[in-house]
Amino acid sequence: MGHVRSRPIGTITRGTTGHNRLRRSDRWIAAVHGPLLRSAARPLVVDLGYGASHITTCELFGRLRRVCPTVQIVGIEIDPERVAAAKPYEREGVSFVRGGFELPVDRPPMVVRAFNVLRQYGEAEAWAHWDRLRAGIHPAGVIVEGTCSEIGHRAVWVTLGAEGPRTLTFAARFSGFGQPSELAERLPKTLIHRNVPGERVHAFLADWDRAWAACAPFGAYGHRQRWIRAAESLARDWPVATASPTGGTARWRLGELTLPWRAVAP
Ligand SMILES: C[S@@+](CC[C@H](N)C(=O)[O-])C[C@H]1O[C@@H](n2cnc3c(N)ncnc32)[C@H](O)[C@@H]1O
Repeated sequence: MGHVRSRPIGTITRGTTGHNRLRRSDRWIAAVHGPLLRSAARPLVVDLGYGASHITTCELFGRLRRVCPTVQIVGIEIDPERVAAAKPYEREGVSFVRGGFELPVDRPPMVVRAFNVLRQYGEAEAWAHWDRLRAGIHPAGVIVEGTCSEIGHRAVWVTLGAEGPRTLTFAARFSGFGQPSELAERLPKTLIHRNVPGERVHAFLADWDRAWAACAPFGAYGHRQRWIRAAESLARDWPVATASPTGGTARWRLGELTLPWRAVAP
C-alpha cells in the first residue's frame, strides 16, 4: 500500500524450542480447528515466534496438512538471524518472515499459534498484545496462545477469537505431574499472577486437586482413567467442556481438560 515498512512490534527473546515440544497444541489445533481451516478457500496459519529453529513450524504444518491439504503456514520471527536460519527450510506451503505482533502476512490468518512467546513479556503487555493479535486475524479465526514445559509434557493455552478469549486448556502427560495444580506453572501470562486465594483460577485448581485425590482409587486402572473420572467429577461444579470438539472422554483420554475462559477470567 506504499507505506514505509515499520519496525516489527515486540522484542527479541530467548529462542528455546525443540522437536515435538508443541505436539499437544498441534494435535488440538488439528482436531478442534480442522473444520475451520477446511471452511476457508486459502487457509493461512501463522506460527508466531517459532524460535531458534524452524522445526515446530514444520511439525504443525505436517499435522495440519493431514486434516486440511490446502493449508499454508507462515512462521514469523522477530529475530532476523532466526529467520535467515529457517529460510532454507521453506517449501510449498511453508515460509518464514521477519515480523512481530503486527502479523506481516498477505491475508488475515485463520489460526495464529503463539507458544512460549508472551510469557516473556509483562502482564499488561500480554493483554495489549492479545488485543492487537485479535485485530489481525480473520473474523472467524482463532489465536492459540500458550506455554509449555521444556519438552512439552505440560502445557496450558488460551484460545481467543476476534471477540476475545474463549477457552483455557490444560494438557499433560499422565506421568508428568503429581497433582493437576502443578500445571499452574504453565499458565499464560494473563493468569499466572492470579493463582492466589480469592481468584477463580486458584479456586479451580484447588477443586481439581481435590477431585484428583478423590479419584485416586481409579489410579489402579491407570492415570488416564483417573484423569477422566476427575474431569467428570469437576464438571459437576465447573463448566468444564464435556462434549466434542473440546471436551468429553475423547479429549480427556489424551490428558486434556478445557473450560470456558469466563470461568477463570481474572
Ligand atoms: C521461547 S521461543 C519459542 C519457540 C517456539 N514457539 C516454541 O514454543 O518452542 C520464543 C520466540 O519468540 C520470539 N518472539 C518474541 N516476541 C515476538 C514477536 N512479537 N513476534 C515474533 N516473534 C517474537 C523470540 O524472538 C523467540 O525466538
